[in-house]
Amino acid sequence: MSINIVCLPGDGIGPEVTESVISVLNAVADKFKLEINIDQQLIGGAAIDATGDPLPAKTVSACQNADAVFLGAIGGPKWDDPNAKVRPEQGLLRLRSAMGVFSNIRPLTVFPELVDASPLKPKVLEGVDFIVVRELTGGIYFGDKHRGENFATDECRYSVEEIERITKVACELAMQRGKKITSVDKANVLETSRLWREVVTKLVSQNYPEIKLEHQLVDSCAMKMIQNPAHFDVVLTENMFGDILSDEASVLAGSMGLLASSSIGEGSGLFEPIHGSAPDIAGQGIANPYASILSAAMMLRWLNYLAEADAIETAVKSSIASGILTRDLKSESEIKTHQVTHAVIQNL
Ligand code: NAD
Ligand code: IPM
Ligand code: MN
Repeated sequence: MSINIVCLPGDGIGPEVTESVISVLNAVADKFKLEINIDQQLIGGAAIDATGDPLPAKTVSACQNADAVFLGAIGGPKWDDPNAKVRPEQGLLRLRSAMGVFSNIRPLTVFPELVDASPLKPKVLEGVDFIVVRELTGGIYFGDKHRGENFATDECRYSVEEIERITKVACELAMQRGKKITSVDKANVLETSRLWREVVTKLVSQNYPEIKLEHQLVDSCAMKMIQNPAHFDVVLTENMFGDILSDEASVLAGSMGLLASSSIGEGSGLFEPIHGSAPDIAGQGIANPYASILSAAMMLRWLNYLAEADAIETAVKSSIASGILTRDLKSESEIKTHQVTHAVIQNL
């Protein structure tokens, strides 16, 4: 059996965490007698530097032809000039759009050994286990943008079909879990949110009568996610709200360096940690690779390599339990990225 994976290291800590993923995948291939072919391609600032384009055509076709794609992270101060014609982030947004990966799944697990890594009280973290289902290829990210002399606009647009398809994903997930969905919007202000609420309500009541659906405004949801996070099971929301709420959720786990994600649509899937290129720590070899390694496990699970995915997840749990933690999780730690990678491989 052979699997063809495209890896997009990107910028900042992106290449550092991608290196971990490649080492872990090679070790899994060895252990399970699989052939995993890894093709590395350019994206983001690295692609701008090399070609002038944050998403070269060669990268797009490689990704579209791969079984799955792993992305490290893109962006950084070098490419942040507000007047620049091209930005690293455009590369990632164009890739999500080209791959049609409209559903971004961001699970939140609190590892018992890491309860102290979170600034929240241990009691608040008891029983916390939810998934953010973020719509990924619509909304304000993809509407028309305009810059006038003294103003700027970003159009926020959602179609019924876009809302329906992401709602179905959330429903299917909810049916395998606690059968509860919190749909998050800003229906007291935004027209797109009023449409969102209407479409979600109708679809759930007609097709998934067993699911308990509630609606929550995004501002109070942000509060509740910290005050009573165990309340949530599946959090369904639009593109920008999902971006913000999932970074907030990472505080419950203890670090951004722990949250993995999968982005799925009709074709091959895209797997990435939720964090960015972390320019403040890039180049020091201290990035936490667990989020990326767990994204690789999500990738293998999605490709139906269940034993392999389980093996990675179990190895990550063991490494965390034995205290192999980078500085973001344990302030005085001297543990480097490659030592975490090594520990995970040893535990496979
Ligand atoms: P960020 O996620 O890069 O970093 C936020 C904070 O979390 C930083 O203090 C960073 O050091 C820490 N952090 C993040 N990941 C970590 C890890 N694996 N290990 C240890 N610490 C980690 O967010 P930012 O600083 O707002 O953005 C920096 C750049 O990243 C920007 O250019 C942004 O556009 C880009 N970005 C890219 C992606 C992506 O590629 N998917 C996601 C978010 C942000
Ligand atoms: C993420 C990032 C991206 C997003 C940026 C870099 C475009 O924050 O993957 O969460 O907003 O989707
Ligand atoms: Mn984000």
